[in-house]
Amino acid sequence: CGIVGILGKQAVAGQVVEALRRLEYRGYDSAGVATLEGGRLSRRRAEGKLKNLEVRLSNEPLDGLIGIGHTRWATHGKPTESNAHPHATEKLAVVHNGIIENFRELKAELEADGHVFASETDTEVIAHLVTRELDRGKDPIAAVGASLPHLRGAFALAFLFEGQEDLLIGARKGSPLAVGIGDGEMYLGSDALALAPFTNLIAYLDEGDWVVLNRKGATFYDADGSQVERRAQRVAAGAFLVEKGNHHHFMAKEIYEQPEVVGHTLTHYVDMANGVARLPFETPFDWKDLSRLSVSACGTAYYAGLTAKYWFEKLARLPVEIDVASEFRYREAPLPANGLALFVSQSGETADTLACLRYARQEGQHIMSVVNVPTSTIARESDVVAPTLAGPEIGVASTKAFTCQLTALAGLAIAAARARGTLTAEQEAAYVQELIALPGLMAQALTLESEIEKLARKLSRARDVLYLGRGTAFPLALEGALKLKEISYIHAEGYPAGELKHGPIALIDEDMPVIVIAPHDALFEKTASNMQEVAARGGRIILITDAKGAAEAGVVPEATIIMPEMDPLFAPIVYAVPIQMIAYQTAVFMGKDVDQPRNLAKSVTVE
Ligand code: G6P
Repeated sequence: CGIVGILGKQAVAGQVVEALRRLEYRGYDSAGVATLEGGRLSRRRAEGKLKNLEVRLSNEPLDGLIGIGHTRWATHGKPTESNAHPHATEKLAVVHNGIIENFRELKAELEADGHVFASETDTEVIAHLVTRELDRGKDPIAAVGASLPHLRGAFALAFLFEGQEDLLIGARKGSPLAVGIGDGEMYLGSDALALAPFTNLIAYLDEGDWVVLNRKGATFYDADGSQVERRAQRVAAGAFLVEKGNHHHFMAKEIYEQPEVVGHTLTHYVDMANGVARLPFETPFDWKDLSRLSVSACGTAYYAGLTAKYWFEKLARLPVEIDVASEFRYREAPLPANGLALFVSQSGETADTLACLRYARQEGQHIMSVVNVPTSTIARESDVVAPTLAGPEIGVASTKAFTCQLTALAGLAIAAARARGTLTAEQEAAYVQELIALPGLMAQALTLESEIEKLARKLSRARDVLYLGRGTAFPLALEGALKLKEISYIHAEGYPAGELKHGPIALIDEDMPVIVIAPHDALFEKTASNMQEVAARGGRIILITDAKGAAEAGVVPEATIIMPEMDPLFAPIVYAVPIQMIAYQTAVFMGKDVDQPRNLAKSVTVE
């Protein structure tokens, strides 16, 4: 979960551990460091806390002037020493954050080539992949450049090479990485915070970038391998923990963090190595015995809950009722025996949601919450807490907390389905694979930014915007409209596409942008006919779909945002990215205060 690399003037192992300690807040279960001792790679790794690694290092010190280190949160394989990073071959060591989706294929291919693996991790395939390129005669820079395109998923990497005392290579795809510039010393960190004791001059890798460091400086390359400039900036003292990186607003930073935090959240709901669902807690009830799931939440968290209704019903065949908390708490709703009440909340402090929890408790329900703040009141008053690992969300308009809520809820729905016997093992494996692919898909979706910027300019002139969707795209239409009104103050409404003709169609004219969220799923044709209805009235269609959907739309939209192909069931988690970027870019273009929109609060602890 934390990456550090140092090209120093003195022995660096101690500094590497010091930097890792600053990343402890991200959670981890093993740690390790590698340095060059007279040009030879040497590693020390330990299970558990950094203290254990320090004991190792004091018994068997490392003196190298160059090193990489890592704190690991187990994804593929248990938190044992042999699974701890750095992973190494005779030629290099590597540390890695994130998930390599296609590691099984790569591993099989490398094993067939005679590579022998020492761990269960996805990371080790990276070490072998680059080693194969070195064996073919490439230098380290060319070897990394040739290997990166083979890796699917979302990740950040740091490499150290045998015999190369003045070379570190870093790479970023969907998981952040920062370069720290010192005086004759250079640093890499998954977070600028890790580098705070050494330097405050920081340059960030952009999505898809990789970087070659020596003690004189850094050379950046983009995903195509072309050399690019990435400007270094001074990070103000004290601003390290919650800093915006190279983004103008926290909201942008939080949108961009999503592949990483969704990946992190996933590790609590999916056993990556075996491709099955797992839960981070024991349930004090049997999923099979549940009669109903009653969900309540507010705002964006409510839309996450509404999406989950489709998942729990379809996958786990569990009846779901859902209401906004401010309604649910006063409805005097009868709640069934053996009911599970589920509360979704970023802050865990929202007054209406908490009141619903207490009502459900009184009515004898099992209480589960999906929360981002584990110490919050809602978490404390729940029987079981399903954590989201979004990290602190500063922007008032929720983004990463939403996609992490969806991720946790998707994991819960699969686990519930398995326990209730409504999914076969093959179906479970296929759905889990879809979840594992999410961070990589989200990283791809983030590359749509420049198209969305153009779209935002047009939207900024609209008075009203309509969002349409069917199935799981419907709650996302509601969330899209909420995001836009929250931060741009443009009036927006989300509607189920099928309800269009029961009212909102009356609003459609040539000034009305209609954003249609329609992955090519079983309902696509139905939504396509709704688009015809809009087109026939001169409405301006903005279509968010995949290549198949674009080909079969049957209308010529004013703009089409083409998303990567994916299973439609969990598509809202990825389609949330363009939805958020549309609101963000529109508000930025209009000069609005994106992080602190007027009249809104991050956490609403009053009725
Ligand atoms: C406020 C925030 C929203 C959030 C809602 C629920 O309205 O501005 O972003 O979705 O509260 O908050 P919670 O902390 O319970 O998720």
